[in-house]
Amino acid sequence: MSLQRFFRFLQERIGLDVESVGAPMVERALRQRCVVAQADDFDDYWLRLQQSGAEQQALIEAVIVPETWFFRYPESFTALVGLAHKRVAELAGARPLRILSLPCSTGEEPYSIAMALLDGGVSSEAFRVDGIDISPNSVARAQQAEYGRNSFRGSELAFRQRHFSAHGETHRLNERVRQQVSLQAGNVLDPALASREGLYDFVFCRNLLIYFDVPTQQRVFEVLKRLTHAQGVLFIGPAEGSLLARLGMRPLGIAQSFAYVRQEPLPTMTALPPPSARPLPIAARVRPLPPRASRPGVAVPSKAPASRESEAQLLAAIAQQANSGQSEQARASCERYLRQFAPRAQVYYWLGLLSDTAGDAAQAIIHYRKVLYLEPQHPEALAHLAALLASQGDAAGARRLQERAARAGREPER
Ligand SMILES: C[S@@+](CC[C@H](N)C(=O)[O-])C[C@H]1O[C@@H](n2cnc3c(N)ncnc32)[C@H](O)[C@@H]1O
Repeated sequence: MSLQRFFRFLQERIGLDVESVGAPMVERALRQRCVVAQADDFDDYWLRLQQSGAEQQALIEAVIVPETWFFRYPESFTALVGLAHKRVAELAGARPLRILSLPCSTGEEPYSIAMALLDGGVSSEAFRVDGIDISPNSVARAQQAEYGRNSFRGSELAFRQRHFSAHGETHRLNERVRQQVSLQAGNVLDPALASREGLYDFVFCRNLLIYFDVPTQQRVFEVLKRLTHAQGVLFIGPAEGSLLARLGMRPLGIAQSFAYVRQEPLPTMTALPPPSARPLPIAARVRPLPPRASRPGVAVPSKAPASRESEAQLLAAIAQQANSGQSEQARASCERYLRQFAPRAQVYYWLGLLSDTAGDAAQAIIHYRKVLYLEPQHPEALAHLAALLASQGDAAGARRLQERAARAGREPER
């Protein structure tokens, strides 16, 4: 099929497993690029793509998923501050701490790192943050450091008052934070990264591997491990842990921080900071609710259905609690919902995310399967379950789900 060569190009160039975002999404991007490049057809566009580095970059820009926001998974930033203080003390002024955010997208992650450290009392001379992303457009936006509403999610937004100035609808990041961060375009698959071996005390690589196939994930993990200092810590996304265990990394044991160190016991890093009381926001964006499914065997409402309005209120409360990081309340609300109303895929999806982010992969898998039972093409559940299965070594199961997501033709995270 004539599109396969484009899929291969994207796989080789940026690691994208086309099925993870859905072939129809990539096909749409290809059609758009054909129009802009005034290509007659895919064959003509293929020739132009071969001849133009700018067109290659434009195609990459059209398929990446730049979704991000400030303080995504806040526990990891709390953990980082505790670990950074220890590491600064160990380094005793020999050099500043070095932290990498790869991929950094439009800058919310590296700037969150800088804000967390400054707010946590780490002096500005004591650390530097590097942000790298394949997308020069995203990097340029990160350098601009001006953000709209979508970058600020949840209810804990006090940092915005401390570090931004408002200009109408836009918030501009203060210079004090910006100067801690260096940004550049780059590819995690670039062999030149090897020159940074062991350079970073802390590496953040979150929400990238979900778009890669298993061999590419393995390859990238090796790269990340090499970039991380022997006594350093690697922060990953919620569903990406099991593969790391097989590569000789172990979880640090700080709840919901998704932080990993090398397998050897490291006395300097095993003294954990006290777990923070701050809860974990869930990236469960409120989607338009699909019609309610009533398939047998998932859950049965135990009470007569309450009014539609109170059902809507409870759903809104779950979304608000999950998005603002009130994990326990969100879980309790989901359970209340399932006791009172007919099962709904989105509620099981929230439960899946809550288990996923709490590190309970087995329970997350059960919830995601229920989502798919009720709504077989639920795009986020397909993507998350595929990532969980892949991380547990079930490559065939993961691939089946990715194929299903591709057939559904919908776009996770967009
Ligand atoms: C969903 S964002 C994640 C941003 C941030 N780490 C977070 O978790 O919020 C994924 C980013 O990965 C970048 N990306 C995709 N392939 C890449 C590659 N091969 N090397 C570096 N960045 C890549 C995309 O440009 C996009 O900005």
